[in-house]
Amino acid sequence: MNIPEITFPNEDKDFIKNPYPYLKELRNSSPIHYDKLSGLNLITHFEDVKEIQKSKNFSSSEPEDYVKDSDEKLINPKDYDYFWKTEEFNLLNLEGNIHDELRGLVAKAFLNRQVQELRPFMETKSNELLNKINREKFDLLADYAQPYSIAVIGELLGVPEEDYEKFLYWSHAIVKMYDLKVSDENATEAEAAAKDFYIYMSDLIDEKNNNPQNDMISRLSQVSENNQQLTKDQIICTVILLLNAGHEATVNTIGNSIVALLLNNISTKNLDKNYDIKNIIEELIRWDSPLQFFQRWVLEETVVSGINLSKNSKIAILLGSANRDETAFKNPEQIDFERSNLSHTSFGGGVHFCLGAHLARLELEVSFQNLFKHEVTLVDEPERTGAFGIRGFKEINVSFS
Ligand code: HEM
Repeated sequence: MNIPEITFPNEDKDFIKNPYPYLKELRNSSPIHYDKLSGLNLITHFEDVKEIQKSKNFSSSEPEDYVKDSDEKLINPKDYDYFWKTEEFNLLNLEGNIHDELRGLVAKAFLNRQVQELRPFMETKSNELLNKINREKFDLLADYAQPYSIAVIGELLGVPEEDYEKFLYWSHAIVKMYDLKVSDENATEAEAAAKDFYIYMSDLIDEKNNNPQNDMISRLSQVSENNQQLTKDQIICTVILLLNAGHEATVNTIGNSIVALLLNNISTKNLDKNYDIKNIIEELIRWDSPLQFFQRWVLEETVVSGINLSKNSKIAILLGSANRDETAFKNPEQIDFERSNLSHTSFGGGVHFCLGAHLARLELEVSFQNLFKHEVTLVDEPERTGAFGIRGFKEINVSFS
């Protein structure tokens, strides 16, 4: 079976506003489409995405014998020195033993017990922010979700509060490198941010080594397995990954979720009294995933849904599309907090399954429980950021009544 060619409309405003009807058309016409713009084979079906996440035939890191197409439009991260220094040991891009060893060490410093201990801090921070807002009109992202999520990750890692603004800027600049197509301007900005971030982190790690605290950066310097410890570059990459992964996706989940409720006429007030909060969280992450796709290289020729994917070709698993696949979810367009199948793809799967899912779920639980004390209303129509990969809004003006 041939793979149909398309030009994925990742810059089209209407598509960004609501990509799901187009993704549904893709799913119905073929399980895989080749995007001429990015050179990626797009995997749209739930079962295929799940299989690929678990399969050893696909890799998140570029194979050594991989030869780039001359017209390949994706950026090469190794062309950007500091961006690469902050990426080299990024778990998301590693495979095999190095991935498993690094992940094992990081997980030891990121235990569920240590995350649960942050609940009182989250509750205090969430209340403090919501007590400060103007109830008639406030930006759910800038006035609540961003400062909340950066404070939580800052507290977990042990970075000084006065530096949070800098992290926000660095993090926003760096994550632009992960979209389907990156402009030169965004790449230059990301490189400069990565340089500042790298130097800052290197100094902070030295400081924690001299004076260890009860925080994750100190723990990352101490954990060991079979006499192996994390190197300084590994810690820097991990901390930057935790800040970026831990912050953007959580902020966008809070935003996407509240907008999803309001646009579907679901009253926020006491929602958690009517349904299990855990189901609410999983269903909202399924419905509008904050991370829409991840790339993989094909290591060995593989057949997916009857279609041959050749060795060294590249694919993108479309998490948002998989989450709306009607063969996996009954009435997938509907928000249903009593669904029997809550197993979405938004936290990934297999060896790269989200390492911070326990933290994200707790952050969302505390936030939603506080937000659901109020009737939240949209003050105006929120506008999307324009990015497809990291799905969120520029601002979300809401009021409390
Ligand atoms: C709702 C919020 C979040 C969502 C939807 C999310 C989603 C994901 C997804 C889909 C992956 C897998 C990527 C792949 O397959 O290549 C992933 C990996 C990861 N996430 Fe999250 N994430 C969230 C929050 C967090 C938080 C709060 C942290 C930590 C502070 C975090 C840390 C990580 C790390 C370290 C990985 C890499 C794991 C590996 O490659 O072994 N995430 N996340």
